[in-house]
Amino acid sequence: MTYKFVPEYVKEIVPYPPGKPIEEVERELGIKNSVKIASNENPLGTSPLAVQAIKMSLKNLNRYPDGSAFYLKNKLSDVHKIAPESIIIGNGSNELIELIIRTFLKLGDEAIISDPSFLIYSITVKAAGGKSIIIKLKDDYTYDVKGIIKAINKRTRLIFVSNPNNPTGTIITKKDYEWLIERVPKHVIIVDDAAYREFVQSDDYPDGIDYVRGKNRNLIVLRTFSKLYGLAGLRIGYGVTTAELAGYIERVRQPFNVNSLAQIAAIAALNDKAFVKKTLSNNIAGLNYLYKMLDTMNISFMPTQANFFLIRVSPFMSAKQAFESLLRKGVIVRDMTSYGLGDYIRINVGTPSENRKFIKEFGEILKERL
Ligand SMILES: Cc1ncc(COP(=O)(O)O)c(C=O)c1O
Repeated sequence: MTYKFVPEYVKEIVPYPPGKPIEEVERELGIKNSVKIASNENPLGTSPLAVQAIKMSLKNLNRYPDGSAFYLKNKLSDVHKIAPESIIIGNGSNELIELIIRTFLKLGDEAIISDPSFLIYSITVKAAGGKSIIIKLKDDYTYDVKGIIKAINKRTRLIFVSNPNNPTGTIITKKDYEWLIERVPKHVIIVDDAAYREFVQSDDYPDGIDYVRGKNRNLIVLRTFSKLYGLAGLRIGYGVTTAELAGYIERVRQPFNVNSLAQIAAIAALNDKAFVKKTLSNNIAGLNYLYKMLDTMNISFMPTQANFFLIRVSPFMSAKQAFESLLRKGVIVRDMTSYGLGDYIRINVGTPSENRKFIKEFGEILKERL
């Protein structure tokens, strides 16, 4: 290293582990038709109404996008019954996580993050020169809301909750959520990352937007078009909060942070009731199938409220071994070692044939190890 001026906190960042392109993995291993169930994407593709809208807009790419996302904000305002001024649009909800940190966290300020949870929170806090205060999930992998409240001090600015939580698929119950938001002092903002909200089946799930609407709380709820609507490659998500907090984030964002195809696709996707229905029923049927098969294989797993879940591969093998063996058989899963869960892999629900392929190949790997 010769460049001496990079901040220490940037040097310390452990980069988010990216996956290789699927085509490159196939070329290296000499395999074809591999199945990727590693990134919690929509296995059914992209909302057809969104694709149609994109095709019709291709001729306008010489123009800058609408920097105010006027039509999308109005559509979301209708959907959620909340003023457009309370909505902020981002280049994926990841960008909103970054914008929130850049807007509200100064050098040395603290953010409370649970563990294991989405890795991007602590990476982005570090990149801004902030300090992450880590609160372990409880033994049942639910949020320790009491621990979170105890960790607040005068330097705390943000609390990140992923609800449902990536990677555990667990939710914060209504009771715990209300307990938490009622106790958070005025100088702290809760970021409720609800990227997987639409997949939740539990009646005990608190929809964060219900707690923003008509209230003046320091609460920002993040949603995404990447998962349910299959728009991960276009990068678009949104946040819902008070008009005041949204206004501060608006000052920090780039004027054209969200491209025009993404805005148009998102509006169309919100109207695509048929695709939403298909995606949700594929998810439920896929979870039922995968749970049943893993049960018959005597493999333990964490039941989920999302479109992904954790599978315990120990004592038969480590997560790294499971990942590598499955990769060679053309199934790409997530090795959870980087989340501190070296005994687990994470998979998302695939199409029925992808789910069957995973079970078949995983079953064969297990047989070789028994
Ligand atoms: C908890 C959580 N939040 C946010 C995101 C990012 O979503 P987006 O594609 O909108 O940036 C993900 C993606 O995996 C996620 O798991």
